[in-house]
Formats: sequence, structure tokens, C-alpha cells
Amino acid sequence: MSNKKLSGEVYFPSEKVIENAHIKDRDDLDNRARKDYSGFWSEMANELHWFQKWDKVIDDSDKPFYKWFTGAKTNIVYNCLDVHVKTFRRNKLALIWEGENGESKTMSYFALHRETCKFANVLKSMGVQKGDRVTIYMGRTPEIIIAMLACARIGAVHSVVYGGFSVESLAERIEDSNSKVLIVSDGAYQRGKIVPLKQIADEALQRCGTVEHCLVVKRTGQEINMEQGRDMWYHELMNLPIATQNSALEIVDSEDPLFILYTSGTTGKPKAILHTHGGYMVGTYATLKYVFDIHEEDRYWCAADPGWITGHSYIVYAPLLNGTTSFLYEGAPNFPYPNRWWAMIEKYGINILYTAPTAIRGLMRFGESWVNRHDLSSLRLLGSVGEPINPEAWKWYHRVVGKEKCPIMDTWWQTETGMFMITPMPCVPLKPGSGTKPFPGIEMDIVDESGKSVKANEEGFLIIKTPWPAMIRTVYKDDERYVSQYWSKYPGVYLTGDSARRDEDGYFWIIGRVDDVIKVSGYRLGTAEIESALVSHHSVAEAAAIGLPHEIKGNAIYTYVILKSGIEKSQQLIEELRQHVSHEVGPIAKPEHIEFVDSLPKTRSGKIMRRVLKARALGQDPGNISTLEE
Ligand code: WT7
Repeated sequence: MSNKKLSGEVYFPSEKVIENAHIKDRDDLDNRARKDYSGFWSEMANELHWFQKWDKVIDDSDKPFYKWFTGAKTNIVYNCLDVHVKTFRRNKLALIWEGENGESKTMSYFALHRETCKFANVLKSMGVQKGDRVTIYMGRTPEIIIAMLACARIGAVHSVVYGGFSVESLAERIEDSNSKVLIVSDGAYQRGKIVPLKQIADEALQRCGTVEHCLVVKRTGQEINMEQGRDMWYHELMNLPIATQNSALEIVDSEDPLFILYTSGTTGKPKAILHTHGGYMVGTYATLKYVFDIHEEDRYWCAADPGWITGHSYIVYAPLLNGTTSFLYEGAPNFPYPNRWWAMIEKYGINILYTAPTAIRGLMRFGESWVNRHDLSSLRLLGSVGEPINPEAWKWYHRVVGKEKCPIMDTWWQTETGMFMITPMPCVPLKPGSGTKPFPGIEMDIVDESGKSVKANEEGFLIIKTPWPAMIRTVYKDDERYVSQYWSKYPGVYLTGDSARRDEDGYFWIIGRVDDVIKVSGYRLGTAEIESALVSHHSVAEAAAIGLPHEIKGNAIYTYVILKSGIEKSQQLIEELRQHVSHEVGPIAKPEHIEFVDSLPKTRSGKIMRRVLKARALGQDPGNISTLEE
């Protein structure tokens, strides 16, 4: 490591942390990766099993449609399960699960392999074939992981819809992916209540016509509707003779699709980001290994939801690829008391905790005494993801949770990147609020409107200049959108949609989204989704949504609504509209604030100028409004 003095507030790792870490000098690894980028990734890939090795590590013959490990044959699930079952890890715990109601369950690698094979055979018997899309809409129980792995095992493409989404979001995603099979839970426990997932799914299924089979996992046990001929219980299917333990493994090409995951974009409907088996496997495996420094005896907890990319990459795939033991928790962090998380860390001896700034701020609010009731000495590393972490939350996390001995891995990445892109490693000196630098070998920059690098500490657009193995392959069914959204502003480089600055030490500081995406509690929502939900209400003529700073959520949704003529403004209507958005999109999209207005600031071409609304709400100067219509 260079001994150059770093500016600002710096936290150096202890000797002990460095001694323990796989990587003791990031600059060294970075130099190696830069010198021979393909060599670096092929070395990583060689730690995994391939039925046939690749002809080429990176194929850039059809930019920006990059391909990785072309010619190779594999299946990510084989590396997640079968490889371990053949070693001492067959009896190792793959999963420790705790329900919100206190129930718990553990699964060895052997057991997870068995259940996955069985469910893979069930799916096959329903006619699911390689390349078919399967939608999954479930709470946080082991079955969501089994469902994802079973799909991937037979080469089917899973499309997980987060359980916090609601009717319209689910319907739209089922239809767009043309899924014939939907896997749901009857419900999920959240803050002592039941989220009626099957009921929401029933409503969604009335709005779209693609689903032939709906497989239902029993979790909460309340009375639900089971439609004859369409709906079947998971536990009944898993007890039928068709649920054999036969391997059912489909050997796939490196570039065969693994999953699609919908995420909010700048305009219109959510888009499905496509990831493939080979590159995604190598990228997530290597980043988790080096950043969270996975050791054989670790118990690792990524407290996200499997339904988001964080969960796909770092609850499901990367931990299993690394043969580690993961913890999964079903419910709310403060249920029944604000010590729930800390109690579980103590109870299970968790070594690594990876969560989001919004969760940290939420728990911080309850005070230190809730944390201090518990022995958290098992913790070795902490992590943060989803939005910039404010230095105050960072320091609380470091001091109160990590007892000043656990480095914080502030990882910047996206649904599209699939893997960590800007991230520390345990050996790296940290600055609260900065993710430090790109992962070894990856070149990123901050540029101005014309594409020129900006000076130190100046704000600009964050871009990625090198392809990386877990990168998005395309927007499902929409290659054009893939090119125009990510590769068109500056030819040849990937546009992240974030603004950032880089300090004099080369550390990156993310400022936020520069498009019409709002990050609410780390969740990504498009202004368009919220606006179209509002407009779908019979009393609304037009609507605009913006994000404004919020102490715990990071951003909160503020909306401006023009009512249809003759509709009375009332407090009751505001509440009704909030409920309507929650019902259509999901509780996560419920506006914090709704204001009735008579007009909205628009450009002459009719585009809503959200920037002007934002400035007005914050009492700031709206800047250049020359394009504003009178
Ligand atoms: C956007 C991507 C990738 C997992 C979860 C989010 C923001 C993500 C950080 C971070 C500052 C961050 C960015 C990015 N973001 N991580 N460590 N520091 N901002 O995935 O829903 O696709 O959102 O989240 O704005 O573009 P996502």
C-alpha cells in the first residue's frame, strides 16, 4: 500500500484485520488486474467448475453486447451446490433461517441440494423448459432460494418480484416476462401482520393472462383462494413421486440467461435487466470473496431481500458459490423490539453484517442501549449498500455496532452491474461516506457533459470504462433501450445514471441519481411508476413525483396532483390516493406528501420539469428555466 498521506477523516484497518484478509494490498491486486485483465478474470474463473472451458474470456466483437467466457459450459447452481456436496461441506450449513415469529430452520448444503433437485423436477414435470421465464413472488423464507436455484438448475430464467410490490407492478412484470408459472407464498410475516401475497397475486392474475400454474408455499397459513386446475401447494407437490432427487441439471452455455430482474428506469415501464450464467457467477463469486473476505468458518448475513439484486447476488448466488453459511431473516428489524437484529447476531454468532444506510438510520433512532444489551463480539466486518451513507450513520455503525474494530465495506453497484463496482476491501483505509475505489482492474471516471474528466472534487457523471463479468447483457426484449440508456451519451462507455465526485486521493463519493429515479429507503422507484399509478385513479388528471431528502429514508416521495374538473379537494382524497398508489405499486411507493395544484411546470414540449418542483419545495433557485412554458 502506498504510504501517501490521505486527506480528510481516515480510518485505517488494524494489523489484525490485514493479517486475516485474503488481500493484504489492494493496489498490488489492482496493478495485476490492469496489466492482464483477462488473465485476472480467468484466474478467478478457474476457481470454479466448468464442464467445458472458454475460448475467450471477453468477447467484444459486438460492442456494447459484450460476452464473457464464450464457448464455456457450466451451470451456476452446480457451483453453488453440487461442488460442495462432493466435499466436507456437504454437512456444512448453507442456510440458517429465522422467521419473524421466532421459528427457525437450518439447511446443510446436502439438504439445500436435495430440495433444489426435487423442486427442479417438479418444475420440469409442469413443462418448464430451458429458457422459459418463471415469476417468483414470495417472502423471505428458504423456499424463495430453493425456487430460484431450481429454475436456474434446469436452465429456466427466474424473474423475482419483490414482495413489497403490489398488484399492478406484479401483473405488469408477469405479463412482460410472459411467465407461465408463478411461485408465491400464501403470505409473509411483517411487523406481526400478514402480507397477503397470494391474495395480491390473485388480483394480479386477473389482469394478465399468461400464467397456467401457480405454485403456493404455505407460510402464514391463513385461508386463501386456491383456484382449481391452476393453483397447487408446494408441499403437496414436493411429496409426490415426480419430486425425485434426480439431478435435473441442465448444462448451459456461459452466455445463457440466468435471470431477469425488473428495475425502475428513467421513463415508462420498469425494464428487465438480463444476467447470464458464466460471467455473473465469476463476478459475484470473486467480489464477495475479496470484499467480505469470506473464511470457511464465517456466518454471513446480508440483510437485504432476495427479491432485489443485492439478494440475488449476495444472499443467493455469491455466498453459495463461496460455500459459506448464510443467515436469512424473514421480518422487520424492530419486531417485536428494536433489539431484534442484535439479538440474532448474538444468538447465531454472525461474523459479517451487510445492510443499507436506511436500516442503520432506522435502528440508530432507537438509541445505543438496544445494541449494547447484546454481545456482538462475533462481528468482524460490516457492509453498506443502496445509497450514499451519511457520515453520521457510518460512524454510529462503526462505533456502536462494530465496536471500532470492524471495517465498513460501502459497496457501490447497481442491478445492472450485478456485482460490487466501487468498494473497499478490509485492508483499505476508509473515509466515512466514500466507497473508496473501483474493484481491481475496473476503470471508472467522472466526466462533464462533453465527456471530459472533471477535476478533483468537482461533480460530474459517473461512468464505467471497462466491461466487467457480471455486467447487464441487455434489457430483456429491448436491445435498443439497452444501447440508448447505457451506451449512448458517451460512445463506448457505460453511463451509470449517478453523479459523483472524486477527491484528491482518488476516492469516489456518490452524490445521487441524476435521472428520474428516486431512491426511497434504498429502493429504486421511477417517478413514472408513481405518476402513472396516481393518474390511474379516477379523480386524477395529471401528476408529478419528486424525491426530497428524508432523515431515515434518504429520500421521500412528494407528489403534485391536478384533479379532474369537478373533483373536490379533501384530506380524505389525499389518503385515498396514497392508498391507491400503495395498492397499485406497493407500500414502498406510497407518497409521503400529496399536494393539489392547478398546473405543473412543463417544457414547451410538455415534459414535466421535476427539477423546478424540487427547487420550489426546497426553497432554492430553480436555475435555468428558459425552456419552461409560460
Ligand atoms: C443505485 C442502484 C446494488 C444494490 C442495491 C441498489 C445507488 C447503490 C450505493 C452506495 C451510494 C449507492 C446508486 C446506484 N447506490 N449503492 N454504496 N453508495 N449510492 O441497486 O436498485 O439497482 O440501485 O443505488 O444511485 O445507481 P439498484
